[in-house]
Amino acid sequence: MTQHIPTWLERAVIQTASLHPYIPGKSLQQLLRETGLSKAVKLASNENPYGAAPAVITAMQQACTASHRYPDGDSTALKNALAEHHDVNPDRILLGNGSNEVLELLIRCFADHQTQVVYSRRAFIVYALATVAAGAHGVAVEDDANLGHDLSAMLAAVTQYTRIVCIANPNNPTGTLLDNADIQAFLDALPRNVVVIVDEAYHEYVIETHADSVAYLYHPGLVITRTFSKAYGLAGCRIGYGIGNAELIACANRYREPFNVNSIAQAGALAALDEQLWMQTHVTKALFERDNLEDALQQRGLLLAHSHGNFVLLRHKEAVNIHALMEQQGMILRPLVPYAMADVLRVSVGTSKENAAFLDALDHVLSTL
Ligand SMILES: Cc1ncc(COP(=O)(O)O)c(C=O)c1O
Repeated sequence: MTQHIPTWLERAVIQTASLHPYIPGKSLQQLLRETGLSKAVKLASNENPYGAAPAVITAMQQACTASHRYPDGDSTALKNALAEHHDVNPDRILLGNGSNEVLELLIRCFADHQTQVVYSRRAFIVYALATVAAGAHGVAVEDDANLGHDLSAMLAAVTQYTRIVCIANPNNPTGTLLDNADIQAFLDALPRNVVVIVDEAYHEYVIETHADSVAYLYHPGLVITRTFSKAYGLAGCRIGYGIGNAELIACANRYREPFNVNSIAQAGALAALDEQLWMQTHVTKALFERDNLEDALQQRGLLLAHSHGNFVLLRHKEAVNIHALMEQQGMILRPLVPYAMADVLRVSVGTSKENAAFLDALDHVLSTL
């Protein structure tokens, strides 16, 4: 009788079998390799096409000269600057290798195989992935008729096993926005011992917000996450943070790697906080471009809904086909198949030149269907 030799997947911890790697937007290099084109435009990862402020680049270049040293493991200078920026104590801040890591640290710290994490079915997919990775049970709540978070249904889904509730505001990929007053009413109705992540990766693009969520929202388990990847233009550096109750943050900090935020990212983020005017000027440009893109999609009968992020949503029954044909034109977009929206493509807002090139390529592709 032949002996069964277990595969590595069988040897891996049980949740590995249900874990699928996050599929990022295709890189420019990959598309150029695949198509043989000499140039391409990436509108697939909601990056900031204008880049970081010049003073931020200079600060990072200077930090490179000390890159033979480990970074400050506590990111003291940055934490203090963020504390001042948000008017909170530094011990309420958790820094991560992207806000993605902050989400993962919180989920690993509070959820396990006996517990549940509640999120909206079409919310940022990392909540589901991090939940599976932690061996916990994800409860994906159906979104409302407008693809937004259905807070009443999410509240109804909370049980004695729920440890974490995740909300993305604005949400990626649906671009929906919740009012802070509605979030606060939801927080008031939630049990006090649940961790609530309010993920505000696109916060800076929301000009409708009347109150700053950090000052306005309250719940003992609330952690608001923000990132330097989007409006601050530091996606490649990987740096983000969460603000929550100091004791809760101290628990999550135990899961942090010793030097999880590199020194170049710390220097860049610190300098970026001083470049508010630059950041806001470029956010205004991006919003102008976003609204133009939405108008253009609307005129073509392709706009799914208004987005509150730095991306727009294109709906067409042949979206998957359009995605492939656009790649042949050197345009990298993001299909929303993993979110069960096979007829939708997410298009990040680029520079005006990139957006014009996108519309030209789109018109060409549509004419060939
Ligand atoms: C809603 C949302 N949250 C968090 C993230 C993670 O961003 P980062 O890890 O770059 O801070 C993203 C990235 O696209 C996002 O869309």
